[in-house]
Amino acid sequence: PGIPGAQLRTLPAHISEQIISKEITILFGSQTGNAQGLAKKSARKLEGIGFQVTVSSMSDFKTKKLKEVQNLLIIVSTHGEGDPPDSALTFHEFLHSKRAPKLTDLRFSVLALGDSSYEFFCQTGKEFDNRLEELGGIRLYPRFDCDVDYDEAAAEWLKGVLDSLSETQDGSAPQVHESAPQAVESVYSRTNPFKAEVLENINLNGRGSNKETRHLELALEGSGLTFEPGDSLGIYPENDPFLVDILLEELRWDPEEMVTVNKQGDVRQLKEALISYFEITVLTKPLLEKAIKISANEDLHELLSPGNEEELKAYLTGRDLLDLVRDFGQWGETAQEFVSILRKIPARLYSIASSLSANPDEVHLTIGAVRYATHGRERKGVCSIFAAEGLNPGDTLPVYIQHNENFRLPQSPDTAIIMIGPGTGVAPFRSFMQEREEMGAEGKSWLFYGDQHFVTDFLYQTEWQKWLKAGVLTKMDVAFSRDTEEKVYVQHRMLEHSKELFEWLQEGAAVYICGDEKHMAHDVHQTLIEIIEKEGGMSHEKAEAYFADLQQQKRYQRDVY
Ligand code: 2AM
Repeated sequence: PGIPGAQLRTLPAHISEQIISKEITILFGSQTGNAQGLAKKSARKLEGIGFQVTVSSMSDFKTKKLKEVQNLLIIVSTHGEGDPPDSALTFHEFLHSKRAPKLTDLRFSVLALGDSSYEFFCQTGKEFDNRLEELGGIRLYPRFDCDVDYDEAAAEWLKGVLDSLSETQDGSAPQVHESAPQAVESVYSRTNPFKAEVLENINLNGRGSNKETRHLELALEGSGLTFEPGDSLGIYPENDPFLVDILLEELRWDPEEMVTVNKQGDVRQLKEALISYFEITVLTKPLLEKAIKISANEDLHELLSPGNEEELKAYLTGRDLLDLVRDFGQWGETAQEFVSILRKIPARLYSIASSLSANPDEVHLTIGAVRYATHGRERKGVCSIFAAEGLNPGDTLPVYIQHNENFRLPQSPDTAIIMIGPGTGVAPFRSFMQEREEMGAEGKSWLFYGDQHFVTDFLYQTEWQKWLKAGVLTKMDVAFSRDTEEKVYVQHRMLEHSKELFEWLQEGAAVYICGDEKHMAHDVHQTLIEIIEKEGGMSHEKAEAYFADLQQQKRYQRDVY
């Protein structure tokens, strides 16, 4: 047994004479855990066939070591507007700086994760790929850019990497090892989700609130699934059946017609396929590029022609498949041809709001229902509305655990924690408190919470108060933004307590931020720097360095969306 293709090939002399290392370094940059999961999985595969693998988060990798690496695999996701994940920032910056070494002995390959509904699709992976080449590295295997449904592409990439490695091996195929026994893992995963039963589904907001936030309790009994505070739950949602009905009417297809839904050739009724298998609420450029192949509509072709990039971007924003169908009819092709251009409905991740030790065999979530109107129509967030409107106790839904090593309680229960989580961002902190209460942790804790109105939007209010009373939670400061003339946000409360907050940092506290990335997390970040400057008597640069140090020590962690 060995690597396919390894045994038969005669290698060119200059390569076979070279002794090529069986050592491989895998560096991952992960925000939500996908890249990390793939890195670990790839490492297990490579180890199983005799490679010596070092797998590390980019944030833990000593850049001095880079020059010694001969085979490097990079698995990295792209975040927000084409940004590297938090844990990849320092390494990304180092590699793109003048300090980066020449890497003429390096062979590398990049697996880029992303979402094609974003303009800067797989940007970070592309940057690493280009830069490694610029520094003199040889591409072992071409970069793969994966969309949200990445499993098949990732497996294909790894196979390509393996083939390529074995071609340049010294002729002897690596031995297959029995891999070391792993901790018992559940049979359920992203690619084989568990059908969890809904135990409870309640609205946490009071009457008259602008918001609807669902508290969902699901049963994990019998799944073997385990998680830690900080982990997320992946949910495969269903599309709104009413939206599917309208789409079917518009296209005049028989809802019961059978269509093939995946590469394995599984068939489903069209209506079911549109509800459970395909994404119908997001338009992406790749989707439209496929659509013009099956449509003669001139306007659609025009939209995709060179020079119209801005119009295309504007069109894609906030529109869905129903808009596409209505705006660019006639659609003459068969239902099968049509669904073949759609991508698989991606799972959604939610930060887990409970601790497994406090609630064995259960997982709790805090889900904000998303409803808005744009382009002349009411729109709904797929998964949040599936949870809010489509799930009742007794129903089941496909779920899996997404481990997130980037959002972890401190190793020591004595370490103080500062938790900043307005709105649904408070979810993982409920898990933190449950866990710390269960452990009898002695470390101090401080929650900054905010939402629109005290009366209707104070999520889990009685629980925080109970923990305060019991001393599990040491301090709590709240900011209700719409109860007063002037808006107050969590960062204003932080500033009001800047002296004490800095003291906590000096004593070694870890800071956690969860929730909206674009506005809240950004502003909170700025505020933290400001507090360090002010209370530490530091220049802006010094404060940035202090902050970078916090991050390095994993004392600044974010779970943002
Ligand atoms: P707003 O909606 O009244 O503007 C949870 O959604 C809470 O976060 C709300 O009180 C919301 O206030 C607030 N919020 C909105 N933008 C924010 C920002 N940039 N920083 C902190 N909190 C913000």
